[in-house]
Amino acid sequence: MQTAQLPATPHGVAAASRVLAKGGLLAFPTETVYGLGADARNDHAVARIFAAKGRPSFNPLIVHVASISAAQALVVWTAVATKLAAQFWPGPMTLVLPLKPDNGLSALVTANLPSLAIRIPANPLARDLLDQFGGPVAAPSANPSGRISPTTARHVIRGLDGQIDAVIDGGDCAVGLESTIIGLEKTPTLLRPGGLASGPIEACLGQPLTHHHISDTLNAPGQMRSHYAPTARLRLNATSARSGEVLLGFGDVPADLNLSASRDLVEAAANLFRHLHTLDTRASEVIAVSPIPKTGLGLAINDRLQRAAAPRPESEAAL
Ligand code: TXA
Ligand code: MG
Repeated sequence: MQTAQLPATPHGVAAASRVLAKGGLLAFPTETVYGLGADARNDHAVARIFAAKGRPSFNPLIVHVASISAAQALVVWTAVATKLAAQFWPGPMTLVLPLKPDNGLSALVTANLPSLAIRIPANPLARDLLDQFGGPVAAPSANPSGRISPTTARHVIRGLDGQIDAVIDGGDCAVGLESTIIGLEKTPTLLRPGGLASGPIEACLGQPLTHHHISDTLNAPGQMRSHYAPTARLRLNATSARSGEVLLGFGDVPADLNLSASRDLVEAAANLFRHLHTLDTRASEVIAVSPIPKTGLGLAINDRLQRAAAPRPESEAAL
């Protein structure tokens, strides 16, 4: 299959929307990372997502919609959802809510769970595309399963060229980290830290989030430890590079690449996957990484780094 590269023009968006309408696979930019999108109502198209990513099929997908009313057609909405959506949508926040009956979605999207993860992305190209397509778009990050998430169209091509119908190039992703996932089936729960820090979410809710623990893997599919892995090994909390290592720095350190010389966590999040991609193409077998503060977006950055650094048992490496 030839992967078409579409420009961020009205023509490009129209062509991208046609790819989705025909049951094709389209990689598109969101403000978090590039998504690998398919019509969420089309079983065959959704199945192709799993095939292209080499993703285990028990891992459910996030559905992207253009409006709150489109979300309300798919899930059982709540007052807490109204509060969070009013403040943080469109944006890097995903809500998990009970699925409505007769929702029209492919059962593959939710991996048969009774709940659905849903969000309205903020990236203007993503919004144009969702408006024009007019239906729900299932999209995991547009990378082969277990690899680093893509934040440029070039990353998408590097991982999935020939496996997908098209990619629409919207430049760099502004946030650079996947969305923060909040479970709202019971008490509001942080299921995955991400591009929106939990502080503002808790302020909006007026209560702390319950924290989901990484060991509860069955409750939060996709929270496999060695997600986001580059080919090189990672050594975390490194104060300097040892011989043969490259250093991914944070703060005022002599680094091969720096997440943020000024210790700005938003800048660091935006650079994280791009810098890991770049260092992973160098010959070095080990990427040493400076310590990152465990506050605000630093929590999500540390979460991604720990997964990337985790030992990779064969059972996971095969995913
Ligand atoms: O920023 C993002 O969220 C990006 C862009 C493309 O929107 N998408 C993304 O999708 O990161 P993905 O598939 O790589 O991660 C989705 C996560 C997985 O960990 C999955 O297990 C979890 O969401 N998830 C999906 N549906 C769920 C559900 N019903 N309950 C709990 N977790 C769910
Ligand atoms: Mg992913």
